[in-house]
Amino acid sequence: MTYQEQLDKNRIPQHVAIIMDGNGRWAEQQGKERTEGHIRGVEVVRKIMENAVELGIKYLTLYTFSTENWNRPEEEVTALMGLLFKNIEEDVFIKNHVRFRVIGDVKRLPVEIQAKLNECIDHTKTFDRSCMVLALSYSSRWEITRAARLLAEKAAKGEISPDQIDEEMVSSSMTTNFMPDPELLIRTGGELRLSNYLLWQSAYTELYFCDTFWPDFNMEELCKAIYVYQQRERRFGLTGAQIAGKHDSK
Ligand code: IPE
Ligand code: IPE
Ligand code: MG
Repeated sequence: MTYQEQLDKNRIPQHVAIIMDGNGRWAEQQGKERTEGHIRGVEVVRKIMENAVELGIKYLTLYTFSTENWNRPEEEVTALMGLLFKNIEEDVFIKNHVRFRVIGDVKRLPVEIQAKLNECIDHTKTFDRSCMVLALSYSSRWEITRAARLLAEKAAKGEISPDQIDEEMVSSSMTTNFMPDPELLIRTGGELRLSNYLLWQSAYTELYFCDTFWPDFNMEELCKAIYVYQQRERRFGLTGAQIAGKHDSK
């Protein structure tokens, strides 16, 4: 049986976050330029988005370009920006009724990319079937620092008092304030780290790491990650017995 067949369709996570890693190594393994890996990676993004919609995932947050990635060799950054510009295609979102959104320090991106992103965000804003979020020029420390600044500004203006600041207010100062925290975070490419991705939001997220390089990731791999997630017991600090009791009383 495939993992897809074994999934509990009633317990599909609402929000899946993915660290799409391994494009460069995928290419190097085949004696190709790293950029070739990124090109293949873009095709996989499109397929996985359609797969996620098919599975009923509401939010798919893809780590596409990190704050730290700006420090890569200039030609790789330029190639990545070119690929991004070429591949923001609103037709794909419109066809699938997917809302497109972006999180990150978008102002650092070339202006023509910002314009294209804004157009795509605007033209898909009425879709509510699923939402695909690209994290671009994103890092959690950037985001948390920004949230601290926003709250400090509000406090300085007297709009809030410091003792009013609670977890909910911090969450709503994050760039992800329009979606629930991810239930599942997947990292492809074999590395066991979060690389500055959704650190606040993944406080209680189930983590799934696989060795597959992103260009080889597919529907069955996605279903495997969700299957593994479905086998886990999410306790949120409670005991196993408490969790079992909760299920019984339902
Ligand atoms: C992920 O693949 C894509 C980006 C970070 C833009 P990498 O480019 O990091 O690929 P590896 O990790 O070097 O194989
Ligand atoms: C994380 O991958 C960023 C993205 C996938 C966009 P990296 O390849 O940049 O992460 P590190 O450097 O291995 O931690
Ligand atoms: Mg990498």
